[in-house]
Amino acid sequence: MTQITLRRPDDWHLHLRDGAMLRAVTPETARHFGRAIIMPNLMPPVVTGAQAADYRERIRAGIPEGSDFTPLMTLYLTEETDPADVAKAKAQGIITAVKLYPAGATTNSASGVRDFDKVRPVLETMAEHGIPLCVHGEVVDGDVDIFDREAVFIDRVLDPIRRATPGLRVVMEHITTKDGVDYARAGGDTLGATITTHHLVINRNHILVGGIKPHYYCLPVAKRETHRQTLLEAATSGDKSFFLGTDSAPHTDPNKESACGCAGCFTATNTMSVLAEVFEQQGALDRLEAFTSLNGPAFYGLAPNEARITLEKGDAVRYPEKIETGDGPVTVFDPGFPLHWRVV
Ligand code: NCD
Ligand code: ZN
Repeated sequence: MTQITLRRPDDWHLHLRDGAMLRAVTPETARHFGRAIIMPNLMPPVVTGAQAADYRERIRAGIPEGSDFTPLMTLYLTEETDPADVAKAKAQGIITAVKLYPAGATTNSASGVRDFDKVRPVLETMAEHGIPLCVHGEVVDGDVDIFDREAVFIDRVLDPIRRATPGLRVVMEHITTKDGVDYARAGGDTLGATITTHHLVINRNHILVGGIKPHYYCLPVAKRETHRQTLLEAATSGDKSFFLGTDSAPHTDPNKESACGCAGCFTATNTMSVLAEVFEQQGALDRLEAFTSLNGPAFYGLAPNEARITLEKGDAVRYPEKIETGDGPVTVFDPGFPLHWRVV
């Protein structure tokens, strides 16, 4: 096969930031993607419907002329979130989902949830109105090893939340382990899981062997190779539970290449070429569309995009090593192998 046409893909987990960074990275996603679920972890976070509406306007201002890219907004769940504000923001078409960060789990998550009982009324309202909860699934307890935090979260937090709030639609975001894959597979219609581009490519050796590679450091941190293999099987299986959420998370090079570097891989620019390569290596190019363009909308109760994109196989495709932003350069994810599929 040397050409493949897909429904325009969507990104079900994306960081666009704000200001100069937003203006630089939004076109990178809008080039190939139809819609994206926009993460609310700004400083300060997007916690009310009014703030989400304002943020959406700032994003719209950064979308290139002629692009039909649609940002789907989320609210950042805090212990103070008002269930009525969430229901209203959904009814007004401002938000698509609500994001749960355990306090301290990742970049800008200090306002996240500590006591999950405190957000029960919001979760009940969301179940009633069919508003999905997007979950950063890692515990933050200092006594839990960082490589075990996803598995422990499923047992200690996620499963109890789902049992206590039947009907709540949950997206396990950026799963990185076999534990995550197994739990998502068994979760039925109310449970979905996103998988990032980079977690299909790197394992923890990529971060740590031969010198520390800050541009491969993200959260949840990449795990051992057996977990990556399980993620690959899940993403290429066609199973409706699994869909693309790139978690493209730009940080400037000085913030990554530091004694205390930020977590996040920036994959917006070359995600479709990387995924086509990976799916081809797995003999699963015919299931790429399910992962990037069909399973996500189905979970969110939305129609797939009508527009199509075509990828063509040829000589190695070159992407810029960095994109320039008003805040400084941002390094584009390097998969470590040549890419042959170009979006035409
Ligand atoms: C994200 C960021 O930089 O905002 N970083 C990351 O490593 N994925 C936060 C997140 O989604 O965890
Ligand atoms: Zn993220």
